[in-house]
Amino acid sequence: MSENKPSTRLIHTRGPRLDPPVVNPPLERASTVLFDDPERLYADKPSYARMGLGVHRELEAALSALEGGQGVQLAPSGLAACALAIACLVEAGDHVLIADTLYGPTRRFCEKRLKRMGVEVTRFPPRIGRGIERLFQPNTRAVYLESPGSLTFEIMDTPALVEAAGSRDIYTVIDNTWSGGLYHQPLALGVDLSVQALTKYAIGHADGFGGAVMARSAAVAQNVSECAGEWGIALGPEEAWLALRGLRTLSTRLRAHDESARKLAAWLEARPEVARLIHPAFDSHPDHAIWKRDFTGASGLFGFVLQPQPDGAVNAFLRALDLFGMGFSWGGFESLLIPCDPQLRRLPGDWTQERPGPLMRIHVGLEDPDDLIADLEAAMQHLSAG
Ligand SMILES: Cc1ncc(COP(=O)(O)O)c(C=O)c1O
Repeated sequence: MSENKPSTRLIHTRGPRLDPPVVNPPLERASTVLFDDPERLYADKPSYARMGLGVHRELEAALSALEGGQGVQLAPSGLAACALAIACLVEAGDHVLIADTLYGPTRRFCEKRLKRMGVEVTRFPPRIGRGIERLFQPNTRAVYLESPGSLTFEIMDTPALVEAAGSRDIYTVIDNTWSGGLYHQPLALGVDLSVQALTKYAIGHADGFGGAVMARSAAVAQNVSECAGEWGIALGPEEAWLALRGLRTLSTRLRAHDESARKLAAWLEARPEVARLIHPAFDSHPDHAIWKRDFTGASGLFGFVLQPQPDGAVNAFLRALDLFGMGFSWGGFESLLIPCDPQLRRLPGDWTQERPGPLMRIHVGLEDPDDLIADLEAAMQHLSAG
């Protein structure tokens, strides 16, 4: 099994089945687990459905087949998984380093909630590499990465960061949602915890929430699972079922997202209205070499910077689009496009402050890419070419 390719493994991780066997696991909607023998009441697990039932075990097995590691903890949303991963590693008096490009709500969790709990938090620029050593303090406990960075798509030198942190026994955590877990294998690169918002590519149909934390070692996995148990973090059975169903087709969907996204990216890069494409699979991306070394594919989400635009032009462009929706998620079957400037809260000196025009984020869905290009082209009549 383990020599098979990920797409095969995602289809063939199956738990015990009903008799006669069916392809998919049953969806157990239950809170109570019944015991017929008092001797087993306090001995058997799961003793309560919050610990997960058959479908959860099968989803965990599929996620292990995808990302490797020694344990998976499910969570009710991606953000809950992101928060759990860092919170279970720290205590009052500790210091954590977080990427300036971390998903905004995760960054807020660290900078507000963890700080109130007595944890010191410092941001670092995403391209810092080995330079992170300069930010280590005697109490630094964990480094939180996300690659590519949210909204601006910087690729981190994960092996260099892992090496630097490892030399001081500092944990590393990464948000691996963008790659769907398929195109980037952070646990194999030595990262301690890899987090995914299952809401995006795993569920894949914009119809559920979920999150998962994958641990490289059994000891860290145990820590995450104890912390989740104490906080009551669990994933509902229907969402677990949707995530498992989504994983079966992940590699086919992701390939389609990637191919279409690259087609749109190449088209956008050649347009006079676009000042700069931000797609790590393109030579023009400053971290392309690192992406090529550490990733095996891209997904459907990337960015671009427009030329300077007169007031109202971006809104007119967005209103004129038929096939692109405006919404804050991604990873579903549908294409989305949003302006990002109101969300950017970055360290001084970051490149985002110097760019010529508005920053846009696009999610390329599973529509025909030629239709998407035609939609963009028609709406671009509202934009200035600079
Ligand atoms: C990179 C990243 N991580 C985590 C999340 C959070 O996922 P959820 O919406 O399931 O809480 C998101 C959501 O947009 C995201 O973009």
